[in-house]
Amino acid sequence: MDEPIKRMDWLRREIREHDHLYYVRNEPRITDQQYDELFAELKALEARHPELVTPDSPTQRVAGRPLGEFATIRHSIPMLSVDNTYNADELRAFDERVRKQLGQADYDYVVELKIDGLAVSLRYEQGVLATGATRGDGEVGDDVTTNIRTIRSIPLRLHADAYRIEGVPPSSRGQDARDTQGRDALATRIPAVLEVRGEVYMPTKSFAALNKIRAEAGEPAFANPRNAAAGSLKLLDARITATRNLSFFAYAIGEISEPLADDHWHALQRLKDLGLPINPHVQKARDIAEVIEICISWADRRSKLDYQIDGMVIKINRYDQRDILGATGRAPRWCISYKFPAERARTVVESIAVQVGKTGALTPVANLQPVLLAGTTVKRASLHNFDEMQRLDVRPGDTVLIEKAGEIIPQVVEVRKEFRPEGAEPFPVPTQCPVCGSEAVRRKNEVALRCANPTCPAVTREAIVHYASRGGMDIEGLGEKVVDQLLDAGLIRDLADLYSLRAEDVAALDRQGETSASNLIEAIGESKGRDLTRLLNALAIPHVGEETALLLARHFRSMDKLLEASLDEFLDREPGKKKVTPKIPGVGEVMARAIVEDLSRPDKRERIHRLMVAGVNMLLQSGPAPSQSSLSGKTVVITGTLKTLSRQQAEQAVREAGGKVSSSVSKKTDFVVAGEDPGSKLQKAQGLGVKVLDEEQFKKLLAGKDV
Ligand code: IVH
Repeated sequence: MDEPIKRMDWLRREIREHDHLYYVRNEPRITDQQYDELFAELKALEARHPELVTPDSPTQRVAGRPLGEFATIRHSIPMLSVDNTYNADELRAFDERVRKQLGQADYDYVVELKIDGLAVSLRYEQGVLATGATRGDGEVGDDVTTNIRTIRSIPLRLHADAYRIEGVPPSSRGQDARDTQGRDALATRIPAVLEVRGEVYMPTKSFAALNKIRAEAGEPAFANPRNAAAGSLKLLDARITATRNLSFFAYAIGEISEPLADDHWHALQRLKDLGLPINPHVQKARDIAEVIEICISWADRRSKLDYQIDGMVIKINRYDQRDILGATGRAPRWCISYKFPAERARTVVESIAVQVGKTGALTPVANLQPVLLAGTTVKRASLHNFDEMQRLDVRPGDTVLIEKAGEIIPQVVEVRKEFRPEGAEPFPVPTQCPVCGSEAVRRKNEVALRCANPTCPAVTREAIVHYASRGGMDIEGLGEKVVDQLLDAGLIRDLADLYSLRAEDVAALDRQGETSASNLIEAIGESKGRDLTRLLNALAIPHVGEETALLLARHFRSMDKLLEASLDEFLDREPGKKKVTPKIPGVGEVMARAIVEDLSRPDKRERIHRLMVAGVNMLLQSGPAPSQSSLSGKTVVITGTLKTLSRQQAEQAVREAGGKVSSSVSKKTDFVVAGEDPGSKLQKAQGLGVKVLDEEQFKKLLAGKDV
């Protein structure tokens, strides 16, 4: 029994180190095949000895089933935001304020790239990744641990000896790695608690590839790598996150049980030694002149990076000086960002076209003379809506400036009227849908012009494509082309018809065979089990994307409840007063009105009714109804290591039993499950009188027994 344990332990260490070399240091030492062999051997051993699987095993990055919703995590130390500057003068003014407050003292800066991604906080307990949370509102974020675990450059376990592999020099041996007390990093102990903060991002290449796949599947493109990273990290199904090639750079520390160093520069070296990815372009600067020089130099060089940055972040190096400077409300006084000016290019509008979207919205699009901008060739720019088109007064033939202010989708920002050709006429605002000829209408309070015809072929097509897309009901094999075939052949007229398709009819279509047809029918059938969040996003309700769908699903928990809801369920309207406050945070008045109006349309109601009859799930959680579940409505905190369950499995079990997992203990916590080496949470639970369970009791509880 001893042998497999040793072998598994060795394999895990080996794989971890090769992951580090490949994903963090970019210096692979073995071939992909050799790596796959190590991985396969570990998997085989773990399959034979499931009781020996550890939660931090490299095989456990992707595990568990899709979540119904995210739990939330309260940050032990708030995640502040940073004030912006846009030019050298503003940077000098920042330095003046610092100098005044620090008196005569010397101080230096650390200058970092401002990675255009999404801030997260990773909590390591005893060196093992315990939780990962989004920034959220700075106080409370979403628990995205399962998704975070799929990011290969994030270690599941910190390395005490990150560079054990021969021939790789420890960065910590250099002069620079000694902190101000002369401690050597090799002696770095892994702190009992370490919260690392940093940016999850999507490399530009992966972003472009993802958008290409999405375009082919008829799914909307992500506007920029930041949205793509955020969208990918907040997916309820971590198996999809795992395919998104996200990466991570650490740049700050949150809660820590013992300080790593006296200043940021050395702390970053320590984090690196612990196996965390640190951006290689971090620089020290002696004064603000040097800071400015570094910032300006990156404005030109940034297009050479393989990820996007939208500026620089400038930080006071020494922690004691940071303490003196403190923070104002939402942002620290020791830190400032410098935002790059947006890149612009000049080109000519060849024509303006009107696109019909999935909600019937008519959007003007400028077809441009191809032009190179920030590394890509741009051929089209959305004009967003007709108000915007008129505000800019863009006409076919106009010379325009386009910009990509961090956005990958280019925008027309200015018309150079002096180059306007004679006779250039404004593009008329359509009164009809360009596809079906029905009246184009504008709803109260909305800017969008919409085709009012519920059976418009263009709207129907876009709605079906969206319904089947990955962000929607995720029906594999049902991309744009197949949707067109099904519509052309008259096999479907509405998305609800998908569920009555027959394999033999599909098999008779061009380029379809029996196998692909039956696969498609199977995939359509499978989509019936998706949860309410997906369904709401899939239904193309105006203003409802992934985020709003989640808010609605969390609030109403069933389609019935949402369909019954009047405007009063969304908004607090005091009689006689103008003031309106949303009851569902994040769903404001315009959205609420659009949702209620859309869901009251007879065609939409009929569609939803038909989906219901077809057996499409209309509840937030698939699986047993929460009220019958053993942990229904209960909040559970897990601390320490459990013997038979990984942290992930335990959390999953709580959610499946209808409970909520939280990472911090409060009076509202119902149970604290304590494994071996429990942290401070156990003490807190005892202090608050919260019921503490051991592993046995926890399992009994899951099984619905009394404890
Ligand atoms: S430091 C209190 N460093 O920019 C200091 N932030 O505008 C916390 N960001 O929310 C932030 N790269 O999402 C810091 N090297 C870097 C960064 C960085 C990107 C993001 C981060 C933060 C925002 C601040």
